[in-house]
Amino acid sequence: MDLFDTAASPEAVLAALRTELARTADWPDFAVRATQPVPGEGPIGADLLFVGEQPGDEEDLAGRPFVGPAGRLFDRAMTEAELPRDRTYVTNAVKHFKFTMLGKRRLHQGPDAGDITRYRPLLLREIAAVGPKRVVALGATALQALTGKKLPVLKSRGQLLRGLTDAPVFATVHPSYLLRLPDPGLQAEEYRRFVADLRALAH
Ligand code: URA
Repeated sequence: MDLFDTAASPEAVLAALRTELARTADWPDFAVRATQPVPGEGPIGADLLFVGEQPGDEEDLAGRPFVGPAGRLFDRAMTEAELPRDRTYVTNAVKHFKFTMLGKRRLHQGPDAGDITRYRPLLLREIAAVGPKRVVALGATALQALTGKKLPVLKSRGQLLRGLTDAPVFATVHPSYLLRLPDPGLQAEEYRRFVADLRALAH
């Protein structure tokens, strides 16, 4: 099936997306070192669709989004905000882990503008198939992927923005941002703000 066939069912579109992600060897000028692609997961028709940056080391091995340290923090915040994760759809702007080797460690390498642009048609197709009421951008990469603009996350957070999707885009921080804050007091304060952002989405 053609991924962009407008008559296709959402299930068929998401299946075609997985097939396309498994064919990266055929993509021009693209070398992937990841173990596997990490597609989104969650129910079709979910009201809320969360978009992260790209899979990390643990997601790469598991083939599932947000299952590593950032994912565990995300789960905790979702539970506190009384937003059951399994009723939302969770995906990433970029679907493959990108890294450099440091000794035996795989060091996360952030996606660049080219990566965002390459995956964007797939992301937008995935979102259209799920048909959420709101799309949540977790951090700068997702916000850029969803709006086509480099918007400052901290200034845009909590706002509903017009993006490239039918549904409005709600911006908030990425859970990894919280994990990177060196000061425990600030980390706790920012975590509370993140939960408050998620609570606002629950209504
Ligand atoms: N960070 C992301 O942006 N996505 C994941 O799936 C994991 C960590």
